[in-house]
Amino acid sequence: MTATAEEREIIADWQPRHAALFGHERLKLNHRLRETGLFSRSALGRLIEQCPPEELGLESMCHETDKPDRIQGELGGSSGEDAIRAIEKGRMWMNVRRIMDWSPEYRALLDQVFDEFERRMPGFSTFKRNIGVLISSPNAKVYYHADIQGQSLWQIEGQKSVFLYPRSSVFMDDRNIEKILLRETDEDLPYELWYDDYADEIVLKPGEMITWPLYAPHRVQNHDCLNISVTMEHWTREIRNAYAVHYGNGVMRRTLGIKNASTRDRGLHVYPKAASALLWKRLGRQTSGDVVKQRHFRIDADAPEGLVTYA
Ligand SMILES: [Fe+2]
Repeated sequence: MTATAEEREIIADWQPRHAALFGHERLKLNHRLRETGLFSRSALGRLIEQCPPEELGLESMCHETDKPDRIQGELGGSSGEDAIRAIEKGRMWMNVRRIMDWSPEYRALLDQVFDEFERRMPGFSTFKRNIGVLISSPNAKVYYHADIQGQSLWQIEGQKSVFLYPRSSVFMDDRNIEKILLRETDEDLPYELWYDDYADEIVLKPGEMITWPLYAPHRVQNHDCLNISVTMEHWTREIRNAYAVHYGNGVMRRTLGIKNASTRDRGLHVYPKAASALLWKRLGRQTSGDVVKQRHFRIDADAPEGLVTYA
């Protein structure tokens, strides 16, 4: 039996109202990424093995604080599937980055997903699309932060809670957005426990994806199981304009001491075209992979915590 066009869509439960909500409100949808066959353990194992070392982020979490302690690791001689097993028993994060740059199959999938969104949302036009895979240990956390581009999170295996906070200056003021955009902070923001009284907890299960408003603060907590998730990023003109305005205001605050810069993101009143072009070039550089000079451990599924540290 051949699948109907609707059955081939990646988003399984799209409704017309979602077009108005996308990017502006939190939106949880059902997806069919797993049915592509690209996210089985064996397919992901091959993907990990193909990943250029500079795009394979691997960090272990600090025992004392639970925070990623910026200890960087490498695959060593481990196979991709063994690496997944090691993460399942350990306290690690693996980030397979910029897959569209080095795997045509996944690039085609990324295009398919955004073609589908663009077909369903007239006027929604994206560029600088990005796809990555996050494989993280049971109970791993991502701390309170915000992202600079449009972002969606697609669950493949395991369960996690995504805590989404209101997009208001109480939870993150413009100065903190500027800090993120100017790369003065590692995207962690001031966080108070009482913020959680105002957060929505969304449990993400395999086959579900979520998006949220631009710059909305969030944090993520894995449940007690291995988590495999796909992250997709995108830019639209609207997102780029918001970036440029906040960025421009951040520069003005720092160089001219202007206190009440406007954050209206329509029109080009804040930055001249030439400055915008320069900024865009800079942004292109910012999104490339991290340069890791030293690796501190190698992954090992047979080791007690799934890794062997180098002396
Ligand atoms: Fe995020």
